[in-house]
Amino acid sequence: MPTRLSVNINKIATLRNARGGNNPNVVKTAVDAQLFGAEGITVHPRPDERHITYKDVMDIKPIITTEFNIEGNPSEKKFVDIVLAAIPNQVTLVPDASQQLTSDHGWDTIQHKDFLIEMIGTFKKAGIRVSIFVDPDLKMVEAAAKTNTDRIELYTKSYACMFAAGHQEKAIQPYIAAAALAHKLGLGINAGHDLNLHNLRYFKQHIKHLDEVSIGHALICDSLYLGIENTIQLYKRQLQIAE
Ligand code: PXP
Repeated sequence: MPTRLSVNINKIATLRNARGGNNPNVVKTAVDAQLFGAEGITVHPRPDERHITYKDVMDIKPIITTEFNIEGNPSEKKFVDIVLAAIPNQVTLVPDASQQLTSDHGWDTIQHKDFLIEMIGTFKKAGIRVSIFVDPDLKMVEAAAKTNTDRIELYTKSYACMFAAGHQEKAIQPYIAAAALAHKLGLGINAGHDLNLHNLRYFKQHIKHLDEVSIGHALICDSLYLGIENTIQLYKRQLQIAE
């Protein structure tokens, strides 16, 4: 089955914010990324707005021709409000603290079950597909299925680190098991964090029923050398593998 590439454009906002003007223009980047083949645009607004701002979210919404995915922590009221104002195609719930450099763990879907059920219900009632960020841990996947979420997003940092250290088979095993269980329980499967041009193809080759990957950091870094149009095409090519 085809896997969609959602391009996370937070880093474009980080670069823009470094000078306070509107260069690079995140809305234009979103428009162009879609023209160049991105099958979705992901943004992750944080309360301090250090990269994507709440205004960016609303500015990007009308130019989406593919799928809009907003990530963030629903314990922040501002996050819930902006998602309900923008009504993206998908919201990805992430349990990160506001000052955190980047997301570094998935939900404890057992401990936070009631909170997740409540938030997922709120977003689904507004017609938004919900995905929740989880580690490749069977207990967490099993409990995720009881929250009513549509999908899980597998947190791929541990895969990326082990892959880079040369332990490809060991790296992928927990993800194969987590994805198989998620599929059996009726959940859709997304994945993200630290995926790059080296490790993406192997991940796609081994993970069945992978609906979407969201990729930011490595893709934007590669674009500096290769150009964003070419880079998006290169990432898409890694995903073009028959299951
Ligand atoms: N998924 C989630 C939940 C994230 O927080 C991030 C980073 O913002 C990503 C995916 C993308 O990770 P990367 O920037 O390493 O590609």
